[in-house]
Amino acid sequence: MVSPLVALTPKVQSAIAAALGDDFREADPVLRPSQFADVQVNAALALAKKVGLPPREVAARIVDALDLDDVCDSVEVSGPGFINLTFSSSWIAGLLQDVEADERNGVVLQATQNIPIDYSAPNVAKEMHVGHLRTTVVGDSLARTLEHLGHHVIRQNHIGDWGTPFGMLIEHLLDVGRDSEEADLLVTDPNAFYQAARVKFDGADKAEPAGSEGDFNVRARTRVVKLQAGDPDTLALWRELVDLSKIYFNKIYSTLGITLTDDDLAGESTYNEVLADLCAELEAKGIATVSDGALCVFLDGYTGREGKPVPLIIRKSDGGYNYGTTDLATIKHRVEDLKAHRVLYVIGAPQALHLNMVWDTARKAGWLPDDVVPVHVQIGNVLGDDRKILKTRSGKPLRLMALLDEAVEKARTVIDGTRPDLDETVRATIARQIGIGAVKYADLSVAHDSEYVFDLDRMVALTGNTGPYLQYVVARVRSIFRQIGLDPAAQHAPILLGEPHERALATHLLGFGDVVAEVGDTYEPHRLAGYLFELAQAFSAFYENCPVLKAELDEVKESRLTLCALVFRVMTTGLDLLGLESPEQM
Ligand code: ARG
Repeated sequence: MVSPLVALTPKVQSAIAAALGDDFREADPVLRPSQFADVQVNAALALAKKVGLPPREVAARIVDALDLDDVCDSVEVSGPGFINLTFSSSWIAGLLQDVEADERNGVVLQATQNIPIDYSAPNVAKEMHVGHLRTTVVGDSLARTLEHLGHHVIRQNHIGDWGTPFGMLIEHLLDVGRDSEEADLLVTDPNAFYQAARVKFDGADKAEPAGSEGDFNVRARTRVVKLQAGDPDTLALWRELVDLSKIYFNKIYSTLGITLTDDDLAGESTYNEVLADLCAELEAKGIATVSDGALCVFLDGYTGREGKPVPLIIRKSDGGYNYGTTDLATIKHRVEDLKAHRVLYVIGAPQALHLNMVWDTARKAGWLPDDVVPVHVQIGNVLGDDRKILKTRSGKPLRLMALLDEAVEKARTVIDGTRPDLDETVRATIARQIGIGAVKYADLSVAHDSEYVFDLDRMVALTGNTGPYLQYVVARVRSIFRQIGLDPAAQHAPILLGEPHERALATHLLGFGDVVAEVGDTYEPHRLAGYLFELAQAFSAFYENCPVLKAELDEVKESRLTLCALVFRVMTTGLDLLGLESPEQM
């Protein structure tokens, strides 16, 4: 149930104490995988100074005190004072046997915490852009992983569903008619709808000769006032806009296999009722003050050019609330009502300043206690091959749906080439699974805060660090079991590790539990992606070098089948935590 590193740490610790005396019981040895052995222990170098002995001498004493007969084939001092450990295959096999017997594949359940995760958060009547794609994909993987670790994840889709643009959007909807093709754009190409409304509105702003366009501008402004006043007809129209956008969001979510549902919507508008009280409370506590007509929070440490303090504005001079006000409401709600232990905000990196100001304000107001940890999971940019933010050739923002369709089409070409023997409908399913998987994996395999270049051809390739390469492992194992008419889930036999490639694969399989826990601690799904990529490589090397069905001895065949079955379990579980499907065949 534990990886070798975790299993060994206590043994190494007590050896240090035995060799150097009780003062060193708390020594914290570093154990890491090594090129020359299975594990290298780095403890002697740090301890040498304290003990007053040469590092190699300290290492030798620790080695003498280490009782690893049942664990290691060799224990050696190396270099300036490292200790190299080479495990015995039977120890590895024993550890792996425990993982094999564990339905959770070595992933240990953690004490349940409440963890709201704010992710995706597209805006009503606007296209989801690739930035939204990334927060959606990363956030969903974190939600899946933390849930798998035993936490109570509360998905919070903070959609942009309120604000001044709704005046013009509502009037435009009224102009075109709800059953018109233009209104359909809200579902198929929301940006086009938004732009059409914007053009009318801006045209009017430029004070063109009076006419219908000028009227539009006046109507739009009046509409905002009615919306804010809660006029029932206006609210009904607003709801229609939101509902149409929901159809669009849900279409993207279902195409992408995202776990968000309508129950997870907690958009800006949900906080309308509390904003006035929230501002009043901050003002009463002396945290917010009126400056130039706007209600502002000035915090220590936030200064702009020439040391001028930068405020968090929470009520504009026209009385309207803004992004800062609603985000104060989010943290308050998540702490007080959702009883959060940690709160994740999976949001673009440029919003770091905004979030820090919101959290500091909340701390000052007593809404964010020290034991609740807010985390900004920063999302980096997606670039085009010109290394600028990804756009279409004409410079317009990309339509996300068109991008996903293109990914599936490219995957279709790949699968048509490799598996022309398969049925048309089967190929269509596989193309969808690997095309979408490719896009998601490209996002998840790089650090979430780094930039990456969006390159569909590379993403859908069957070789290299790609989603399809990992999915192919699953398809391969399925095909082995299909040949013998068995279910991988039913394969359990004693594990024997005779060959180096078996041993290497087994050692890697032992690390799954640790890496999943690490993702839960660091919020970095790319660690799991990297682990699975290495697993795929270890499996390929094993499969090329160790015959499975043609193994000479029956117990070797059974053991290898069991290794394959465990690879299948770990890979499908891992892919599922990333949010990728596992195709039946490829
Ligand atoms: N709707 C915002 C945008 O599109 C993202 C909101 C993120 N969540 C939050 N609580 N501020 O940029």
